[in-house]
Amino acid sequence: MNKKVFALILIDFSLFIALIAAAAGRNSEYIKAEETSSCTVRNNNEEVKKVALTFDDGPHVVYTKELLDGLKEREVKATFFVLGQNAEANPDIIKKMHEEGHLIGNHTYSHVQLTRLTSAEQCDEISRTNDLIYDITGEYPQYIRPPFGEWDDKAECKIVMIPVLWSVDTLDWTTENSSSVVKKGTKNIKDGDIILMHDFYKSSVKAALSIVDILKAEGFEFVTVDELITD
Ligand code: NI
Repeated sequence: MNKKVFALILIDFSLFIALIAAAAGRNSEYIKAEETSSCTVRNNNEEVKKVALTFDDGPHVVYTKELLDGLKEREVKATFFVLGQNAEANPDIIKKMHEEGHLIGNHTYSHVQLTRLTSAEQCDEISRTNDLIYDITGEYPQYIRPPFGEWDDKAECKIVMIPVLWSVDTLDWTTENSSSVVKKGTKNIKDGDIILMHDFYKSSVKAALSIVDILKAEGFEFVTVDELITD
C-alpha cells in the first residue's frame, strides 16, 4: 500500500478506490482491492495461517484429474510428489498440474526406499524422474519426498534436491472411509503444517476436497511447500 493510501484511508475508502482506479487506469488491481476492501488491510499483517496439502504416488489416470478439477474450483494450489513411472504414463496430467499452478516434486521413479540402494541406483531413480518431469513441464523439480520418509544424501550424481517430509499423516491409503481421513486432516491443524495424502484413491480425493473446505472456513490459506520452507 502506498503513501497515498495511508493518507486517505480515513476518507471513504471505496470512493477513494474508485477515484484512483479511474485516474491510474489500472482498473483490475484496484477493482480487486475494492471488492475485498473490508479485509484488505487485515491481510497485510502476517496472521494468515498457512498449510500445504501434499499428494504422493500419482498421477492416477482418473483420481488425479478429479482432484485437480476440485482444487481448481476452490482456487487451491497443492504439491504433488509424483512417481516417474506414473508421470511417464500420464504426461497430460502432469502438464495440467503444472499449468494450473501446482508444485511438482519427485517421489522417485518406482517407489523405492532410497537408503537401500547404491548411490548409482539412487541417482538413477531421482534423475530419471527429474528428466521426465522436465520434458513435460520445462522445469526441473527441486523438492523430493523420499518414499517411506527414508533419505540420505549419498547420491553421487550430485543432484541437489530438497527433501520434504510431513507433519500430519492422514493415513488415507489405509482406509476407504473418507470421514476418518477428513478427521485426521482437520484436527489440531496449525500454521505451517504439511499434510500427507495420496492422489491414488477415490476416497482420498473426496477427503482432500472436504479438508480444503473445512480448513478454508477456519481461515487457513493453502500454499505449496516451497512457500512454507523458504519462509
Ligand atoms: Ni509413496
